[in-house]
Amino acid sequence: MKAELNLLFFIYLFISFPVSSQKQVNEPISTIREHHLMDFGWKFAFGHATDYVKDFGTSTGYFTYLAKAGYAAGAAAVQFKDSIWREVDLPHDWAVELPFSGASSHSHGYKTVGWKYPETSVGWYRKKFNIQASDLGRKISIQFDGIYRNSTVWVNGFYIGNEKSGYASSEYDITDYLNYGAENTIAVRVDASTEEGWYYEGAGIYRHVWLNKTDRLHVAQNGVFVTSETKGNNAELTVRTKVDNQYDRQSTFTIEHILLNANNQLVVATKLENISLKGNLQNTWFQKINVANSTLWSLENPYLYKLKTNIITDGHVVDSYITTTGIRTVRFDPDLGFFLNGKSVKIKGTNNHQDHAGVGTAIPDALQEFRVKKLKEMGSNAIRTSHNPPTPELLDICDRLGMLVLDENRLMGTNQEHFDLLERFMVRDRNHPSVILWSIGNEEWAIESNEKGARITKTMQDFAQKIDSSRAFTVAVSGGWDHGSGTTAQVMGYNYIVQGNIDEHHKKFPWQCGIGTEESNTIGTRGVYTDDKANGRMAATNRMPENVGTESGWKFYDERPFLSGVFFWTGFDYRGEANPLSWPAVNSEFGIVDLCGFPKDIFYYLQSWWGTKPVIHIMPHWNWKEREGENVKVTIYSNTEEVELVLNNKSLGKKRMEKNGHLDWNVTYQPGTLVAKGFTRGKPSISEQIATTDVPAKVILISDRMVLNADGEDVAVITVQLEDTKNRIVPTANNEVAFILSGPGKIIGVGSGDPASHDPEQFVENSSNPGPQWKRKTFNGLAQIIVKTTTQTGNITLTANSDGMAPAFLSLSSTIDNIKK
Ligand code: GAL
Repeated sequence: MKAELNLLFFIYLFISFPVSSQKQVNEPISTIREHHLMDFGWKFAFGHATDYVKDFGTSTGYFTYLAKAGYAAGAAAVQFKDSIWREVDLPHDWAVELPFSGASSHSHGYKTVGWKYPETSVGWYRKKFNIQASDLGRKISIQFDGIYRNSTVWVNGFYIGNEKSGYASSEYDITDYLNYGAENTIAVRVDASTEEGWYYEGAGIYRHVWLNKTDRLHVAQNGVFVTSETKGNNAELTVRTKVDNQYDRQSTFTIEHILLNANNQLVVATKLENISLKGNLQNTWFQKINVANSTLWSLENPYLYKLKTNIITDGHVVDSYITTTGIRTVRFDPDLGFFLNGKSVKIKGTNNHQDHAGVGTAIPDALQEFRVKKLKEMGSNAIRTSHNPPTPELLDICDRLGMLVLDENRLMGTNQEHFDLLERFMVRDRNHPSVILWSIGNEEWAIESNEKGARITKTMQDFAQKIDSSRAFTVAVSGGWDHGSGTTAQVMGYNYIVQGNIDEHHKKFPWQCGIGTEESNTIGTRGVYTDDKANGRMAATNRMPENVGTESGWKFYDERPFLSGVFFWTGFDYRGEANPLSWPAVNSEFGIVDLCGFPKDIFYYLQSWWGTKPVIHIMPHWNWKEREGENVKVTIYSNTEEVELVLNNKSLGKKRMEKNGHLDWNVTYQPGTLVAKGFTRGKPSISEQIATTDVPAKVILISDRMVLNADGEDVAVITVQLEDTKNRIVPTANNEVAFILSGPGKIIGVGSGDPASHDPEQFVENSSNPGPQWKRKTFNGLAQIIVKTTTQTGNITLTANSDGMAPAFLSLSSTIDNIKK
């Protein structure tokens, strides 16, 4: 970016014109720029991390992988026979397929991957693809949104590059290596034997892969950057366009920007004409676009515009590049917190790793959307992408659904590699209206509380500000707040109230804005009410030691206007870091929802105080037959003004709810029915009833969506619940359910949210295991099954059977109609 900035060629030549006078240009859209998904039809096999021969190398070969251009050996070679390799589609995380072992990495969830397991830590992917003869002369690149990790890529036996980071998106120009009008081979070696983070990270090509084709004169990848300033509803957009002229001669062209509204209608267009750029050079041009009566992007109305950037030569559009953007302003204030479009918004956030039941890090886009919606259902308005750049599609979804994002960098440091990663990450993500703040690092213990931390933070901020000066920067710090990164970060990221005195720090650094980058959640297992540490489960009851609970955390941040808000640790459970437990627990239990997204009780505390709808929730369940006559603590989460608890038609009294509080009752247990009745202004408003259930009698399947896209990417997230004859979920039922699927779909994962389950989440089909039987034990009444479409249309039917219970049938429709998700 530094180079780009030096080169910046500021031309403020604005030729805005009304719609009617727009000149017609010849625009053969389909051949201008192509962006093809390359997720299907890969071959996969394990190589070896320490044995070259087992890694498909040959002991007798003259050349190895990198010796000579186009002479790659082993599985990187074109002629390598991969016919017996497994077929996989992307996204793919092979770690989730592997068994657990108590000897594996605690932080990564005890999966048998990593340096101790050289035979399951290197994966090879190969794919054949055709390139048309007519593509000769264009620029063609392959783009990986993310591979975990240390990926080496060959095309047609040519080594094209290596990306160590498991979180960076990388793009390789493959124009010169391709066979035009013929078949091509791509090979990727992925080495997950060393870890990058301290949480489950998966293994493999776990994000999308794309093939990009452009004219030699084109907008550079992520080459458009739009920022906005607003006065009321009138906005002034500044658009920076980086154009790449990969011809060997000078090109003269026009940059045209066409702003389209959410209905794809033209709002305004601007042209910058007669630009010349010498061959083999890139340059950036600035243009301003005024948008009268713009619709601002907000949480309530996440309105998106599309900016179509055309590069026109001789009346022909040679490149057409779409940037999705939202018009909005963001500001952090040291005394007043965060402002979106000039309006104060308290950030109600959660931290999340990229990890879901059944699929690990290979989260299909529709599942990403399911996760964001689940957090929104709780009233949350923000996600911190702890501790790495996310999948780009997650940001698209946050843009579309109205979810704020604290977008986090992976490595802290001030050398070439650090800057390169930081720059690529920011350039990729800086158009997303959902991204409101950058995090340049998290809990760097060696530096966060000392001079080095102060220096590194400042240098990184100074560098990053040149890439995006429209947003602020934070660093999440866990200690020594007054000495290290905390003295130079623009926005101080407090990791945990207990680590220092936030009020004192704010007094010492009155210029600095503040945010709770991490705050404790109630560690606990969904539906578990007594600690069972030996079996890896923790009570989900409301632990509130001073200043470390969800409730005390939220009260603290809510009471202080200078703090912009807080991100709880975490929204979803994730694999690894089963702290304070260890094996047999394999997943963290910090989540407000479990690994499947099933809410724990604390979800309803936050929903009460973060959301806008009336909420009432009773904790725990009422199946305590063995505890008759004993005292059971009942907690009510609600945002009603008063709550009355009624057991078997007998009132146990009415209590007043305090703001941001909860209510407790000590109840002598009797089986039957427990009702919590909420009152607002003296009138009954909302109530919840729970009951002592009978044994499970039937399996019920509930899908988040009934109509899916037959695109081979879409998924249905299906809840499996066990109910008694009276249609009540049995909250203690842990029964095995077997699944059969027919029609144009496939099961891609099962889970239950049990943090100590060692059962398989995937049943991989291969020659020795054709047509595997998918099954899962429910955990406290619930399980989840994820079904993916194929590219065939039709009805997908899922049957679920459990011994002694009525089975369930679910029919989903997979279509090619333009379905709005
Ligand atoms: C924090 C850290 C998180 C996670 C958490 C677990 O200190 O930033 O990544 O490890 O602790 O308690």
